Formats: sequence, C-alpha cells, structure tokens
Amino acid sequence: MQTEEIYRDLLERITDGFIALDKNWNYTYVNRRVGELVHRSPESMIGKNVWEEFPDVVGTPTYEAFQKAMKEQRYVSNLDYYPPLDLWQENHIYPSPEGISVFIRDITDQKKAEQARKQSEETRRLIMNSALDAIVCVNKQNRITVWNRQAENIFGWKEEEALGKTLVETIIPEKYREQHLKGFKRYQETGEGPLLNKLIEITALNKQGEEFPVELAIVVVKQGQDDFYCAFIRDITERKQADEKIKSSYEQLRQLASHLQVVREQERTSIAREIHDELGQQLTGLKIDISWIKKRVSDEDAAIIKKIDEVLDLLDITIKTVRKIASELRPSILDDIGIVEALEWQSKEFERRSGIKTYFSSELEGLQLPENISTTFFRIFQESLTNVARHAQASSIHASFVKKDGKLILEISDNGQGMELSEMKNKKTLGLLGMKERTQMIGGEFKINSKPGQGTKVSISIPSSLAGSM
Ligand SMILES: Nc1ncnc2c1ncn2[C@@H]1O[C@H](COP(=O)(O)OP(=O)(O)O)[C@@H](O)[C@H]1O
Ligand SMILES: [Mg+2]
Repeated sequence: MQTEEIYRDLLERITDGFIALDKNWNYTYVNRRVGELVHRSPESMIGKNVWEEFPDVVGTPTYEAFQKAMKEQRYVSNLDYYPPLDLWQENHIYPSPEGISVFIRDITDQKKAEQARKQSEETRRLIMNSALDAIVCVNKQNRITVWNRQAENIFGWKEEEALGKTLVETIIPEKYREQHLKGFKRYQETGEGPLLNKLIEITALNKQGEEFPVELAIVVVKQGQDDFYCAFIRDITERKQADEKIKSSYEQLRQLASHLQVVREQERTSIAREIHDELGQQLTGLKIDISWIKKRVSDEDAAIIKKIDEVLDLLDITIKTVRKIASELRPSILDDIGIVEALEWQSKEFERRSGIKTYFSSELEGLQLPENISTTFFRIFQESLTNVARHAQASSIHASFVKKDGKLILEISDNGQGMELSEMKNKKTLGLLGMKERTQMIGGEFKINSKPGQGTKVSISIPSSLAGSM
C-alpha cells in the first residue's frame, strides 16, 4: 500500500469524524464517520463549501475556531452543540498552509450522561433543601459532605463553611464529643451502632455555641464501596419549652392543691378546737347553771322541774353533738394518741354508724408519724370507708396497716360489688383522684384494684424512710 492509502485507510477506520478543508473552505476529504453524522455520502460533499453546506454553523463557536486556526495557523480545539443533529462535538483543528484538518469527536452520549447526572444532583439538592429536617451527612473520615438549607437555618453555619469540617468542630457539644468519636470508630470496626435508625433526643450546638435540644435519626447510606452517615435533625426547642410549661403549671397546681389541703386541715383543726373548747365549755357552764336553778326551784313546781329536765337532756344531746362535730372535723385522737389508734377508732365509729362489719388490724400501735403523713393516711381511710358505704353494697371490710419490705402500707378491702376501673377514668369524680394526689404529695403510691362483682381494694404505701421517726 502507498503511504497515502495507509492514511486514508486509517482515517476511515477511526471512530472520530475527520474532514479536510482547503483555503477556500471547500471539502477535500470527508471520512465515513462524518458522512454518518450528517447523513450524507462523503463523496457528495467533496469540493463543496463548508459554510454553504452548513450555513447555520456560521457565527457559532465552531465557526470561530475554524477561522482562528486557519488565520493564526495554530492548533485550536473547541466544544460545541449542533442542534439540527442533536450533536455535542469536540473539534480538534489542525492548520496547514493548504487549509485545515479537523477531527470531530461525537461526545453526545457523554454530555447527556453528564447532564442527567447534573440534573439528578440538582433534583437531590432541591429535595434536600426543601426538607423540614436538617440533613447532615459525613463520610468515613467524619467530614461533612452534605449540609442542607435547614441545617444552615438551625445551626447557623453556611453550607460552604460546614462542608469538610467535622461534627465535633461544628454541632456536637463538648460533653458528647468523646462518646461520638467512640461510637463512630466502633461502627467502622464492628458495623454496630446502637444509635442507628432510632429517634434520639439530645442537644446540639449552633454556630454561636448555644446548646439547644434536638431530635435526630441517624442512617447509614452505602454508595458503592463507600459508607456515609446521614442525620435527620429537628430543632425541638419550642416543643421542649411547651412541655416544660405544661409540667411547671401542673407542678404549680399540685403545690397549690397541696397547700390548700394543709390549710384546710389547719382550719379544720382550729374550728374543731374552737367548737370543742369554747362551745363545749359554754354548754357545760350552762348545764351547771341550770342544775343550780333546778335545786333552787321548790318541789311543788312539777311543771317547771319537768321543763328543766327537758332542757338538761337537750343540753346533754347538744354537748354530744358538738363533740361529734368537733371530732369529725378533726379527730383529736389523731393528735393525741397516734395514727393506728385513730384508724382503729374510725373503724369502730364507721361500723357503728354504717352497720358494715369492719375489721382493722395492725401491729404498729404507738407509731408516731409526721403530721402531714398521718393526716393523709387518716383522710384516705375515711374517704375509702365512705366510698364503701356509698357505692359498694358490701357487708364487710378488712383493713390493715402494716410495715413490709421497707414500706408502710394501708389496705382497705371490701366484699362489695366492685367496679369497672376503665369506666372510672371517664368519671369526673374527685374522691379517688384526691386520694391519689394526697398520696403522691407525701411521696407515696396509690393503688386501686377492683372488678365488677369482686369487691374493691384500695392501698397506699409510703417508703418507711419518708415516714420519719420510726
Ligand atoms: N368501694 C367501692 N366499691 C364500688 N364502687 C366504688 C368504690 N369506691 C368508688 N367506687 C366507684 O368509683 C366512683 C368514684 O369514686 P369517688 O372518686 O370517690 O367519687 P364519689 O364517691 O364522689 O362518687 C364512685 O362513683 C363509684 O362508682
Ligand atoms: Mg368518694
């Protein structure tokens, strides 16, 4: 083969397009690949003027590049898109005094793939930036690779600032740093991460170094050989504040209720004392006076004597009533002899008045408790007994007050009709609720057990340690 033929053969076989133009821009050579690209036969193009054949190329970067190479007689390359053929072309233009030779590489597929990649990258960014959560990802080297708009908002670091930094340098508070680094290392070594795929409440730092509560979930994303770790993070400052507000207003209500309870007890005590001491004294004084008058009235005045006896009887009853009212307001027995005796007395009183057999047992006679605690036990006992009388239709009650497992436990069981506890929750009754509150106020625990037809058991317990001098 002649040298020229060898070149020709080569030019036909290469995958790039190849054209040669003379000084007047006429084709002197067109290879097969170019024919395929422009859908013409190479032979038909020979001798024709390139700008006449492709007038729409005039003025484009490719045109400029051709001109430049020809004029300046140096190698020029350019990249251009030719819409009529939907062709991305990369031109390598080699000049010579006779004209120019051009290798045309079709890079359409490559370009399209690149564009698709760009587009999906753009889509990914758009989605990430419209996410409500901050999204932060780090690579295996613990460097930040993703930082979306919301991350900018809640942490104050711009994306450009955050990318490439570590989490320790940006958002992890001092106190969690060691733990974070350990966890990170451990995952890489063992593939185990107890915090992965869970919702975690923790705190984070913003750019100003302020710590705030966040909720986050960490996932591992595998891309080819690479793992990276993404966290979806939500600022929960407002939610926390709302929680705190509710908690603190609840706490205030409890304190208020507790305070009112104490005030009520004090008031009852002082009213009871007034009634017992003052009224009781006065009535007794009256009784003495009237007895004195009776002695002075002569025996003949039978009608007057009878009237006086009636008044004396009435006075006796009144004195008893006053005592009863006083002791119901505040059993002095509670202050005088102690809780166990008071509970015993209350059981007897209750049995006498209600006719329900009431058994009370305790081996803690003489036990002394702080006043608020003994009052609580006593009042709950009263309220429970009242409930039995009102609701249970029971024939007997078994109550006990014992010390067991480091706790003081008061239990009241009846053999009545019981109740459906789930229904009680909807009832707006304050008795059971009050017992529970009262128990909690002294640091104890309130339990109620009941089933329809199987009676009811109320129990309150308090750690002995809280019950003071025992
Ligand atoms: N020992 C009991 N046996 C049966 N039902 C009871 C008993 N104690 C309470 N209940 C039921 O629980 C409800 C709530 O009791 P409580 O809160 O003390 O309110 P109240 O006594 O004012 O109705 C009662 O209405 C009653 O239906
Ligand atoms: Mg009640």
